Amino acid sequence: MVIKEAKFITSNTRADLCPQTDLPEYAFIGRSNVGKSSLINTLTNRLKLAKTSSFPGKTQLINHFLINNEWFLVDLPGYGWAKVSKESRESWRKMINHYLKNRPNLACVFVLIDSRLPPQKPDLEFMELLGNMGVPFVLIFTKIDKQSGTKTDANIAAYMKTLQETWEELPMYMKSSSSTKAGREEILQFISEVNQRYHEARQA
Ligand code: GTP
Ligand code: MG
Repeated sequence: MVIKEAKFITSNTRADLCPQTDLPEYAFIGRSNVGKSSLINTLTNRLKLAKTSSFPGKTQLINHFLINNEWFLVDLPGYGWAKVSKESRESWRKMINHYLKNRPNLACVFVLIDSRLPPQKPDLEFMELLGNMGVPFVLIFTKIDKQSGTKTDANIAAYMKTLQETWEELPMYMKSSSSTKAGREEILQFISEVNQRYHEARQA
């Protein structure tokens, strides 16, 4: 897919204030600092579309970006950052729950996982929440430039083995690096296929 246009539309804390639209949208979520905003910039080839930082907790709002006037990318605030107060964790939980429940155009959630880490509780819990809500998701293992391909593949295999203990059907996964752009084409191809299925389902 060629990205002809990528523009920022809104930032807010409430799902009811997000753009009213029938266009399919794809949300990026995962632990703080996992590389959500960076991946959005890599996919769109825009260096500063989504704000990134080496400190966790940079993205605090629900950010909508309109791509090619055809679909939305959504940058969400991360979870699992140790220094967050109980109150902010609770307001994050409410905001995300409300968002997930109130976006009928949400075509898929990308759950980003650091490719170097073993399974973490907040990620597993978040996948469980998506499963319970019936929200389709795929995994993206990020920052694969930071270690050898062999290590990444071994870690992913171990990760999927853990998921197998609780999931009947394993989620699809992809790998990415915002430094080398690895995975970019595959992710865009996936979005393009889901967009097509989304429109076919609406016409049926
Ligand atoms: P929050 O908004 O805080 O939830 O974080 P985020 O998940 O949006 O992470 P962000 O994209 O801001 O990236 C966090 C840090 O990781 C930044 O310093 C990025 O430069 C770095 N980073 C992100 N992706 C990659 C990657 O693929 N490879 C490498 N080497 N660094 C990355
Ligand atoms: Mg971010």
